[in-house]
This record gives sequence, C-alpha cells and structure tokens, in this order.
Amino acid sequence: MGLKVYAVVSALLLSAGAAQAQAVDPAMGGPGDAAHGQVLFKQRCQLCHLPDKGAKNGVGPALWGAYGTVATSRGTGFAYSDKLKASGIVWTPDKLNIWIQKPASLVPGVKMVLPPVTQPQDRADIIAFLKTETDAKDDPPAKKKG
Ligand code: HEC
Repeated sequence: MGLKVYAVVSALLLSAGAAQAQAVDPAMGGPGDAAHGQVLFKQRCQLCHLPDKGAKNGVGPALWGAYGTVATSRGTGFAYSDKLKASGIVWTPDKLNIWIQKPASLVPGVKMVLPPVTQPQDRADIIAFLKTETDAKDDPPAKKKG
C-alpha cells in the first residue's frame, strides 16, 4: 500500500471511529440514481474497492457482481474476516443500506470501516450503482461512463 493511500485510509479510519457512536438509519431514499451513485462511489468507496468487471482487489474486495450475492461467496481471493465469511448475509438493498452506514452493526467484528453514508438518498444512489455493476442485471438503471 502506498504512503498516500495509507494516509488517506488512516484518516478515514479515524473519522469512522468518531462515527461509531451514531445510530443506524433504516430508511433509504428512492428511487436510486445510479449515475449519481457512481459519483458517490468514487468519493466514498473507490479508495478501497474497484467496481468494474475484472478489476482487482484493493484494500477491500473487488465489487463486480457483489450485489445480490451471499457475502464473500464470489471467489475474489480477498482475505475476508472470519466474521463476514460466517455471516451468510445476502447483499440486498436493505443489508447494503446498513452496511454503508456502520458495517459492524450488521456483522460485528468485520474489517470494513468507513465514514457513514448519512443521507438516505445517497445510500439509495450508491446501491442503485452497485446494482449496475453485475452480470445479473434484471433492470439496470442508466449509468454514466467513465
Ligand atoms: C477503508 C476501506 C473501505 C471503504 C472506504 C469501503 N470498504 Fe467495503 N470493504 C472493505 C473491506 C476491508 C471489506 C471486507 C470486510 C471483511 O472481510 O470483514 C469490505 C467489504 C465490502 C463488501 C462485501 C463484499 C463481498 O465480497 O461480500 C461490500 C458490498 C462493500 N464492502 C461495499 C462498500 C461500499 C458500497 C462502500 C462505499 C460506500 C465501501 N464498501 C467502502 C473496505 C472498505
């Protein structure tokens, strides 16, 4: 991991630590705007996760095809925590809505920490974007290129 990435991750971890006290909001905005979700994903997730097909793992696992699957089941080769491996949770919008606020409240002991995505509409948009990043699309919303 490069020094710069390390510094940014450390800063994220610090702010995520400060946010641990916050409650989790079960509400989600809607309908999600995948194009805006892609912009938010770049700001909030891409430091650790690449979303595109064939992309490699980073600080977190590559996320292509994660939407709708059982956690850790895609054979990414990422070194997941035992807690997440044992969780058996499926990445539905409801679960993702909690995950991107406070991962440990969904599965205690997991390795992902992030500053919570506090706005319900932002969460809906990020989840709509994740839904486009999979081969198993039923009704993919439009997404910007690049
Ligand atoms: C600081 C790094 C970091 C950030 C920022 C981050 N993640 Fe993660 N993410 C991780 C790690 C590490 C794991 C693996 C957790 C474990 O094994 O316990 C993970 C796991 C996941 C998984 C489970 C994947 C699977 O294969 O089951 C999803 C989905 C996910 N993250 C989505 C997101 C989204 C969406 C965002 C942005 C809102 C985000 N993450 C931000 C590090 C991060």
